[in-house]
Amino acid sequence: MYYPDDKVEEVLRSNNIVDVVGTYVHLQKKGANYFGLCPFHNEKSPSFSVSESKQMFYCFGCGAGGNAATFLMKYENYSFREALETLADRAGIKLPEVNYGEEAKKKEEKRQQLRAVNKEAAIYYYKLLRSRKGVKGQRYLAERKLDPSTMRDFGLGYADGSGNDLCAHLKSCGFSDEVILEAGVAAFDEKRGMHDKFWNRVIFPIMDVRGQVIGFGGRVMGDGKPKYLNSPETEIFDKSRNLYGLHIAKRSKAPYKILCEGYMDVISMHQAGFHEAVASLGTSFTEGQAALLKRYTKQVLLAYDSDDAGVRAAIRSIGILKKAGLEGRVIDLRPCKDPDEFIKANGTEAFLKRIENAENSFFYELRMMEREYSMQDPAQRTQFHHAAAAKLCGISDEIERENYIKEVARRYYVDEGSLKRLVASYGRSGAAENVWKNGAESSGNEAEKTVSRRTRPSRDERVERNERLLMTWLCDEPEVFAQIKPYIRPEHFQEGVPRQAAEGYWKILEEQQGGNPASVIGMFGTQEEQEQAASLFNTRLKGLHDAREREKALKDIVISIRRSAADRQRRQIEEGMQEPSAEMLTDIMTARKELQALSKISFKLGDAEDPQ
Ligand code: UTP
Ligand code: MN
Repeated sequence: MYYPDDKVEEVLRSNNIVDVVGTYVHLQKKGANYFGLCPFHNEKSPSFSVSESKQMFYCFGCGAGGNAATFLMKYENYSFREALETLADRAGIKLPEVNYGEEAKKKEEKRQQLRAVNKEAAIYYYKLLRSRKGVKGQRYLAERKLDPSTMRDFGLGYADGSGNDLCAHLKSCGFSDEVILEAGVAAFDEKRGMHDKFWNRVIFPIMDVRGQVIGFGGRVMGDGKPKYLNSPETEIFDKSRNLYGLHIAKRSKAPYKILCEGYMDVISMHQAGFHEAVASLGTSFTEGQAALLKRYTKQVLLAYDSDDAGVRAAIRSIGILKKAGLEGRVIDLRPCKDPDEFIKANGTEAFLKRIENAENSFFYELRMMEREYSMQDPAQRTQFHHAAAAKLCGISDEIERENYIKEVARRYYVDEGSLKRLVASYGRSGAAENVWKNGAESSGNEAEKTVSRRTRPSRDERVERNERLLMTWLCDEPEVFAQIKPYIRPEHFQEGVPRQAAEGYWKILEEQQGGNPASVIGMFGTQEEQEQAASLFNTRLKGLHDAREREKALKDIVISIRRSAADRQRRQIEEGMQEPSAEMLTDIMTARKELQALSKISFKLGDAEDPQ
């Protein structure tokens, strides 16, 4: 990890999670815990809990959970390092200097200066728009029906016709010519010397996910060319890895993000209440942008222009989304040209309807393909069916493919069996490898197996549940640890997060009795792992009160974890995954003995004071 473990622990210890979360979520104390509305999913009654003693949060509705750092990672979309730095700052702890090399240090300083120039320029443009000199810009934006609050949210600004004022201002702030030029807000030529890049335009600052200005788009007020002038790429402005509006859209709780083409489209949707809109930056949508979006959503709705160029761009973007593993759907804006125009013409409700009716990207592509064939002509129709079959063949999930075949057959009036065989023939000819392993005529056994595998509650799920119960129990009543210690060790937990978390927590319990598990979460670097670890400490224990019942429950849990560990080892040997070493055989013997001993003992617990 980036910072040493003890530092991580110190930072977490010095921040009370109730305060950290409390600045974002309204919390109310109920019993030992605090409750509030979960910021990570939509809900009407609070299932989001924060425990002061555990220094953790957990949502019983959506399963989000973790320590204070996890919370910031999720809420602010910080990396672990950024979250930790924020918390350290908050507690006034100085983190050790990260040891950059000389080269890297210079680069970081340069980036910081470029950020500072961009920020100062944004402030300058912002103020100018709201000054006496900004009247023309104000008038233009008002004509485009933007409210002052929308203009503020997006930091809109104005560059007047003077052509040199920004440069002069930045120099007076102490920035060097070199940095000003490199930031892309000024240019140099023989005739004019150094001069402002943007003049007589309204200014759209472009921000990264964290809301820091990294560049600008400037629009002419009228019909001049180019319509938009953009900052060049710089050390901090990578057009293929940023999205316009994402610093706002990242907070939207909608289960999708809307991807469109224009700055004005994003702003217009935002003003109409669709805060989940983002746009690419004057270039076409890239894989880097898809990867970025994937951090925030699984589903992307395309709101591209409805002209031919827009359709081509949409189809291209669908491919990129698919490759990134994102589900894409397409919003139909016809007869309007773009989202901005649609909302102005038809209003919010109508746009919401179009969102709800967004078309599955596969059928959208098919519909666009269809336009290239004259479907009255049997020969062309056949060609279209072949093209559709080739496309269907590219769907790798068998059940999904079956479903699509059914639907395509229905929509385009083809016999389902024939279409299926056609798809299979494309599979065999190697168009898509491994798609059709058993041939089209196979009875679908594979599919059945997949389904039943999915629906039967798995052994792993049961094991996981018991592991969670035990960890939560230990966390609530650390004094139980001494009793179970002889029978359960971290190696008895499932591999991966559970075992690592157990190792970490065992250490804490052995050293300090009753330490909180927040630092265990800090052992994991990704949000997914942190959440998985958090869920281990936040299971709902049955409200057992009576000592006898509790003793029995604990014993059941301990025995079943030991059994699964033994089963796992046996399976590994049987399946030949591991050659049984002498050590393993001893292990198995020990396990058997310990299990026998375990069946005879009873744990000694009191009545619960406060059954959960
Ligand atoms: P559009 O021409 O559709 O502009 O270009 P728009 O966003 O709808 O703007 P308005 O409503 O006419 O004011 C879409 C996007 O393509 C980039 C910009 O990012 C723009 O938002 N673009 C367009 C440029 O970078 N330069 C241009 O000259 C034109
Ligand atoms: Mn447009």
